Amino acid sequence: MKYATIGIIIFSFAVIIGCKKDKVPEPKMEPVEVVCTDSISFQQKVMPLIQNKCFSCHANGTQPVINDYTTIVSQADLMLKTMRGDGVSLMPQGGPALPEMDIKDFNCWIKQGKLNN
Ligand code: HEC
Repeated sequence: MKYATIGIIIFSFAVIIGCKKDKVPEPKMEPVEVVCTDSISFQQKVMPLIQNKCFSCHANGTQPVINDYTTIVSQADLMLKTMRGDGVSLMPQGGPALPEMDIKDFNCWIKQGKLNN
């Protein structure tokens, strides 16, 4: 019995120490918080951006069609992820990624409520 008790105690310590090791904090991978100062216009900024950079493949037919306000609103969060290659294929396909300013504008337009402004 005594040995069993000692065994349990040692085992318990091993578990506690083991668990503590698991709790070493992971380096934080939180996305950089975007600060939106300007109001981003859908008509002036977002639509021309998507037209220039995405329509060559997404305006019709073969790829998922993303060519008007309604579709862009419904796909916006996924589109933002693709612009960053964040867990999905990087877009524009084959790269290079859009300039950070354009991605930021698109992100701000989403944050500002995806307006048709
Ligand atoms: C050279 C052609 C090409 C261009 C330019 C392009 N795409 Fe794509 N896109 C594709 C192809 C092919 C697929 C489907 C295969 C895949 O997911 O890789 C796709 C898929 C997607 C998807 C669906 C991804 C998913 O995981 O379901 C989104 C959203 C998307 N593209 C957004 C964009 C945006 C936003 C742009 C402009 C910044 C863009 N694409 C530019 C070819 C292109």
